Amino acid sequence: MVDIHTHILPGMDDGAASLREAVRMAADAVACGITAVAATPHFFTPSDPGSFYRERDAAVEALRSALREAEIPLQVYPGAEVRPDEDFAYAPALRAAALGGSRYLLLELPFRRLTALQVMGIADSARERGYRPVFAHPERYTLFHRDTNIVNELADQGVYFQVTAQTLAGFGTKEECRFAAALCRANMAQFLSSDGHGARERRLTIASYEVLRQAGISRKQYEFMTDTAPQCVLSDKSLPARQAVFL
Ligand SMILES: [Fe+2]
Repeated sequence: MVDIHTHILPGMDDGAASLREAVRMAADAVACGITAVAATPHFFTPSDPGSFYRERDAAVEALRSALREAEIPLQVYPGAEVRPDEDFAYAPALRAAALGGSRYLLLELPFRRLTALQVMGIADSARERGYRPVFAHPERYTLFHRDTNIVNELADQGVYFQVTAQTLAGFGTKEECRFAAALCRANMAQFLSSDGHGARERRLTIASYEVLRQAGISRKQYEFMTDTAPQCVLSDKSLPARQAVFL
């Protein structure tokens, strides 16, 4: 499996607190069958990157060498979980924030006072500049629970969705779990990721199909979201077309 949403880099955000914790997270990942991850620290000021890329790249290198030393077979690709700021439309050098040097951009939406217009604007800004927007954890936004038309519209406009594996396993509010399962069952979620933050809580694991089938998804859907689609990201290929049924 390949996990495109992780907070494994130490000292970048609210994820791994130390290199030691990052190595334990990597061991968790390998134990559940993950062979590669995109390291996606929170990136709150894409229009003013400052030292973000430099720090991230140094953290990726430090982690890779610690994993080599510990003989943990996990590949680590640079990425970011981008939260669009007010000047997102003019953000420079977004390519370095994209997942593993591809055109797929993992985007986290602001949680409060989110409007349909705002969401469409963010997706448009990304697409107009040649990126393939992937919305992180759509199940966490009440706007999407209330208005499935906007979700269908976004999918129609080429936005991809990454559901968090823990939510699909039933950990979350009732609405979040219901929405996550519905999105996956409708073939509208392309990615299933851990959004792993630590070695104790919010761990870097993706439950097996035997566990997640309780959400009503098929093995084919599970394999697409945990392997086929994320492999396409790492090689910057288009995702194979699937028939979505829409919400
Ligand atoms: Fe995240």
